[in-house]
Amino acid sequence: MTKRYAIVLAAGQGTRMKSKLYKVLHPVMGTPMVEHVVNQLNLLQLESITTVVGFGAEKVKEQLGDQSSFVIQEEQLGTGHAVIQAEDFLKDKEGTTIVVCGDTPLLTSQTLEDLLNYHDQEGAKATVLTAKTDDPSGYGRVIRNQADDVERIVEHKDASDVEKNIGEINTGTYCFDNKTLFKVLKQVSNNNSQGEYYLPDVIQLLKQANEKVSAFQTSNFDETLGVNDRIALSQAEKLMKKRINETHMKNGVTIIDPDNSYIGPEVVIEQDVVIHPGCVINGKTIIKSDAVIGPNTEIRNCHIGENTTIRQSVATDSKIGKSVQIGPFAHIRPQADLGDEVKIGNFVEIKKSSLDKNSKVSHLSYIGDAEVGKDVNIGCGTITVNYDGENKHLTKIEDDAFIGCNSNLIAPVTIGKGSYVAAGSTINKNVPSDALSIARVKQTNKEDYAKKIKKTKKD
Ligand code: UD1
Ligand code: CA
Repeated sequence: MTKRYAIVLAAGQGTRMKSKLYKVLHPVMGTPMVEHVVNQLNLLQLESITTVVGFGAEKVKEQLGDQSSFVIQEEQLGTGHAVIQAEDFLKDKEGTTIVVCGDTPLLTSQTLEDLLNYHDQEGAKATVLTAKTDDPSGYGRVIRNQADDVERIVEHKDASDVEKNIGEINTGTYCFDNKTLFKVLKQVSNNNSQGEYYLPDVIQLLKQANEKVSAFQTSNFDETLGVNDRIALSQAEKLMKKRINETHMKNGVTIIDPDNSYIGPEVVIEQDVVIHPGCVINGKTIIKSDAVIGPNTEIRNCHIGENTTIRQSVATDSKIGKSVQIGPFAHIRPQADLGDEVKIGNFVEIKKSSLDKNSKVSHLSYIGDAEVGKDVNIGCGTITVNYDGENKHLTKIEDDAFIGCNSNLIAPVTIGKGSYVAAGSTINKNVPSDALSIARVKQTNKEDYAKKIKKTKKD
């Protein structure tokens, strides 16, 4: 089989986004656009992926990590000039190079594969992926000759009024015979309205040299959407959301209001999970079967066990067991590890703490840097006092302990197995197993004292 290589163009600033964030790093459903592109390319059998970076190079490199190698385009002189930056790395390779823009996040590996196969079948030196749309404004237009073959591509800014009426656009995705590409790129000039070296000019140059050039038209324009401004970004978000949600629904997930449910591309959801409206779920989250999420719940990078319910809450970077109940209005912060059948109620914050099976924190509590055993009951208003202004300290609460309401547990401290802490206690010494600990001022009742005060006030 012909060897295949990829180049991703991601060096532009994205002026039209009017943003300090580099264009290709703008997220669509929580994942930067360029990462969507690279993820799809990774599903193909490619020898290498080279990303051309410039504006925000360090940030783009950091985002993609070892999924790609990188070349730098110091000055953004156009898409043709961007491809030339990969010359040293690719020019001697035999095979096909697919070029994709970093701002077309909806392209699927299936379409890219179809394009590559069509290019091979046709034996072309270049094949451009095109699409038809009623609103081609801003895109390069595909100019065909009388035989309906592609002649050239004209940029919107350089197009005549007649050319502007053409509804077939250049998607910015192409396959090239690799060696031919780098040879012909040398002939591309910047004699156009933007003074840039246009990659699409390669089509006309090859045609003039009597080389075979072809076009592969996809029927799915939506997939080829190029994001140059925030309006297109919102369209991409909407299309991606629909695509992801429909995939989950086909797999047996109930999404009550798909227009109002935002699920990232890497999220895995098992059958019979129900997602209520207003949820934002992203990162590498896994949700096991029969869980019920939402309404209005935000989840990032969590593993959520079977049959667990999370209502009106936020959970991040945490592990949540089976048949757990969370919310409404709970905050599960990073490194929480909640065992099966745990209950976290309203206005409870959990941070970097583990709670073992069947333990409950039902109301208004902060549990941070704690190890909580099983069958523990933590009363309303309990606080682990974990921070002394400089360091964080551990609170241990052993199995079967019962913490009375409104207790402060000043860490480091251990509450022994089966012990009781009386309500309103401020505990700063360990509590032995099976003990009752009371650490509060003793109550004094002064008979008739209130009456006396009232009388003084009257006089
Ligand atoms: C480009 C195509 C246009 C096509 C459209 C599809 C050219 C000249 N035009 O236009 O025919 O219809 O895509 O979406 O190619 N980039 C660099 N270095 C540069 C310039 C751009 O790396 O010097 C990168 C950008 O980061 C971007 C991609 O190339 O990811 C495309 O550039 P952009 O400026 O968005 O081109 P369009 O005007 O959209
Ligand atoms: Ca673009």
